[in-house]
Amino acid sequence: MKTMKQAEFKKAIAGLPLEKSAYFASIGSTNDVVAEWAREGAKGLCLAFANEQTSGRGRAGRHWVTPPGSALAFSLLLDFAPSFDQSLLGRVSGLGALAVCEALENLYQLAPQIKWPNDVLLEGKKVCGVLPETHWSGEHLQALILGIGINVAPSSVPIQEALNFPATSVEDVLKRRVNFGRLLRATLGRLLGWKDLLESPEFKKAWEQRLAYRGEVVRLESSQGEMVEAELHSLAADGSLKLRMQNGDLRTFQGSEIQLRPLIDSRTK
Ligand code: BTN
Repeated sequence: MKTMKQAEFKKAIAGLPLEKSAYFASIGSTNDVVAEWAREGAKGLCLAFANEQTSGRGRAGRHWVTPPGSALAFSLLLDFAPSFDQSLLGRVSGLGALAVCEALENLYQLAPQIKWPNDVLLEGKKVCGVLPETHWSGEHLQALILGIGINVAPSSVPIQEALNFPATSVEDVLKRRVNFGRLLRATLGRLLGWKDLLESPEFKKAWEQRLAYRGEVVRLESSQGEMVEAELHSLAADGSLKLRMQNGDLRTFQGSEIQLRPLIDSRTK
């Protein structure tokens, strides 16, 4: 098995403007690591990487499994200016997904898509999950964390029965081994490239261009159990999703705790 050793990690991140970084052979969750760093006062851009996660987290309280040496699992503590416009928080969701898409496009000429708000799909199956987390002190944003898990080797993909959406890995799609360090470097490079452009129309456009199911009818279930079937239209300025309802109206949905599915799931059968 080709795992990413600490030396390869160091080489992959060389020269990046990181205040702090760490490689863990095995850790609970890299999101927890950088949250701890934030509590200890870290301010700049920080990166924690794990070769294995033993209690990785996904969205909506789900588990995220990272077997040793199978995946890229890392979290960034984002450095945001005190003037950071909090209406952009919804856009942070797309930041990680867009960076992963562009890395896969540039390195391997793949055509990934983003299942809104922030899952990356290859050939209609999930290859990457992104977990943005915020920590607040009252109304004051103390930490903005972006956790990313990319299934690289086939062994990173949980058995399909354990999943609520079909999954794949980069190597399954490419049918060859890939270099973990190059993919990490390319992803971080794109992420840093977009990080300070979150407000820009170009960022929203690049995210929107990669949206899966655009123009198709999707089924969306909110955490309150509301079930909506409508055509996936576009992104709103804050990164919410606009659906065209059956009566022709556009309705906007926020990203948190929502499940999105194509209505006719032909690609994933
Ligand atoms: C999802 O699709 O539900 C989001 C998955 C996010 C997984 C990554 S792996 C690195 C970081 N640490 C975690 O515990 N979760 C994120």
